[in-house]
Amino acid sequence: MSEKAEALRQALRDAGVEWPAPIQHFETVGSTNDVIKEAARAKAPEWSVAFADEQTAGRGRVGNRWVSPSGNLFLSVLLYPAFPSERFGLVPLAAGVSAARTARGLGAKAELKWPNDVWVGGRKLAGILVEAHAGAAGVEEMVLGFGVNIALAPSGLPSDVAATSLQEAIGPGVTTIAVAAALLRNLREACRLIAVDPGALRTAWKELAVPWWGCLIEVGTGDGAVRGVLHDLDESGGLIVETDSGRRVVVVSGEARTIRLA
Ligand code: BTN
Repeated sequence: MSEKAEALRQALRDAGVEWPAPIQHFETVGSTNDVIKEAARAKAPEWSVAFADEQTAGRGRVGNRWVSPSGNLFLSVLLYPAFPSERFGLVPLAAGVSAARTARGLGAKAELKWPNDVWVGGRKLAGILVEAHAGAAGVEEMVLGFGVNIALAPSGLPSDVAATSLQEAIGPGVTTIAVAAALLRNLREACRLIAVDPGALRTAWKELAVPWWGCLIEVGTGDGAVRGVLHDLDESGGLIVETDSGRRVVVVSGEARTIRLA
């Protein structure tokens, strides 16, 4: 095992977690999500991890690229979801909760923007790409990919949101290993909640979320934009938005933003 993979395993052990699956480290790789997808095809154990110092083909949500310079964390984890399919939509929220808790644990005032962007002061600290693969029996595996800006806040993000980094938020000295260990520990706990207490996971997500409840928002979806007042999270992790006509719509994917009335 590479030195950094062993360092991560040891950091987890120091935090009381014996990681149950292989951990792979790469100095440079295309995308850690692709490494884990490949591992899934080879029936790798659940919780297999791949992390890299830099990615040459990092992917973001909705087809965007993820700028992946050395100094930040790029980490992917394999999940074989065993809970009821109505809860699959909670996986991105669990990933968001784990990333936001990690940042808060280090002293950053992190907030979640649905479904799982991590913001500090309105700028993006971390992004998460969840990719699911369905077979004959439905969703068989999920790859959870985390990009956390630690040393660098890359410019040129595809959305109109600027980036920030942990270094900007809390100062220098945070290592990728420390962030990865905290993230994995928090992820195990958040995913456990999906199975045993999904209500507690939704509550945790709402407590960490940007305070947009009751505000006018717009969510860009593949079928056009949904605009209305943000009401709540539904059981399966969608956003309940009350439109002008008073109709409540559940949005299950898209990019949310607040609307300021002129
Ligand atoms: C987003 O658009 O906000 C999601 C970004 C997800 C980036 C991470 S970095 C590790 C993993 N590998 C990738 O190619 N993407 C995810």
